[in-house]
Amino acid sequence: MTAPLETSFVEPDAEAIAGLEGRLVAFVTPDGAMDPLARRVDRLTRKALTRLVESETFTKAKPGSSHVLAFPAGLAAEAVQVIKLARRPGPEAARKAGAEIAKAGVAKPVTVLAGPLGNVADLALGLSLRAYDFTAYRSVKDEDAAAAEPVPATVMAKDAAAAAEAFAPLAAQAEGVFFTRDLVNEPANVLTTTEFAERLAALRDVGLEVEVLEEAALEKLGMRTLLAVGQGSESPSKVVVMQWKGGGDEAPFALVGKGVVFDTGGISIKPAAGMEEMTMDMGGAGVVSGVMKTLALRKAKANVVGLVGLVENMPDGKATRPGDVVKTMKGDTVEVINTDAEGRLVLADVLWYAQERFNPTGMIDLATLTGAVIIALGHQNAGVFSNDEELVGAFLKAADSESEGAWRLPLGPAYDKQLKSRIADISNVGGRPAGSITAAQFLKRFVKDGTPWIHLDIAGVAYDGKGTDLVNKGATGWGVRALDRLIRDKFEA
Ligand code: BES
Ligand code: MN
Ligand code: ZN
Repeated sequence: MTAPLETSFVEPDAEAIAGLEGRLVAFVTPDGAMDPLARRVDRLTRKALTRLVESETFTKAKPGSSHVLAFPAGLAAEAVQVIKLARRPGPEAARKAGAEIAKAGVAKPVTVLAGPLGNVADLALGLSLRAYDFTAYRSVKDEDAAAAEPVPATVMAKDAAAAAEAFAPLAAQAEGVFFTRDLVNEPANVLTTTEFAERLAALRDVGLEVEVLEEAALEKLGMRTLLAVGQGSESPSKVVVMQWKGGGDEAPFALVGKGVVFDTGGISIKPAAGMEEMTMDMGGAGVVSGVMKTLALRKAKANVVGLVGLVENMPDGKATRPGDVVKTMKGDTVEVINTDAEGRLVLADVLWYAQERFNPTGMIDLATLTGAVIIALGHQNAGVFSNDEELVGAFLKAADSESEGAWRLPLGPAYDKQLKSRIADISNVGGRPAGSITAAQFLKRFVKDGTPWIHLDIAGVAYDGKGTDLVNKGATGWGVRALDRLIRDKFEA
């Protein structure tokens, strides 16, 4: 379910404006100044724009706000949307302006008279990201929606060819984000571990190398803790390895994702209220998959490997019990005090495997790991943990440029006491205090000295019931753009 938009860029053409159908979008500066295309609309509508701009509706409105004039005389278009520009519009303001266009509806063709707004590629990105809607399971009632033909979104901008070129890698980002959002929005009866692996195998079509490791292979590798999480489910546990080889001969950078397709908590079962949200507990694996798709679509000049651990956490006669002791691929034993702290068990083995097999130059894992990170940071920021100042600095910068909230939290050996086990090397839970940090500290045990590493706890940002600037509702795809940019800055600059 990607956005039904077909974006293109054309040179400014004032003569065409009167005959354009659908909706026109014009920009006006905060003090009411119009560019030549907006002035043309104003003249054709016998000063409708001037009246708007001089009204209190406009003068008192916030920069970035949107105003719609319906069925204007003098134009074939059904509406003119006027967006009051931000004071000094940068890429973020451009993306938000694009989102305003999507919010006003994308059922009819849209022509954006981009005039004074630079960053038109960012505008087009915001437009397509906000136009996404997950409609797979709505019975269609209306003929128009049923047609599902792509709707043209045309941006009139100076140097249209350059704008189209700038948009190409951003369109690849949007495709990656949509791939992530689709995976996260899918219910767990559809997106089983098997279905997830099949959707990743289909990425071979865009040029990724994809391997699916089945239970027998995982058993052989010694991934007992990952298998322990999935053993109560009818869906077989899997690890999927996706490789993009766009760089030279150097070792790859690794992305690792938690892919719990549904988290009931297992025998330590979760309360019923809100449990349905745990269909998004594969969000980390979803982001890794989206980034890999983006890298392939834009033919990134970098070597990146994405690894996801796909399991379902169910209560069953075969399920892991609280108190069970399991051995990790690394060799350490874990006492499973709470079967609901399953994400770290999955990641422990996949992180170890990633390092053993690929010896990566760096590694980032993403996981909807703890409820505690939502208590700490809400839905505005992901929790960031790292053992490497340079890598984390570059990541935080990339996240900031993409307006994806990310906030660093500490690690430290002082927290290890909380993870002591009576009978094994380590316990899988550290009690209530600093729940996100002890989870990160658990993961750190499976990161080799010398591997630059970041753990991203995305429990609060992977999904937004209310929606944000660039997301209608539901899965956000948080992190796809930040990670794509990090890889671009780090390896392709
Ligand atoms: N998948 C959950 C974390 C989560 C909570 C994600 C809310 C998204 C929204 C994770 O597996 C979990 O259950 N964590 C426990 C850990 C606890 C048992 C130490 C938690 O956070 O309560
Ligand atoms: Mn859990
Ligand atoms: Zn979980």
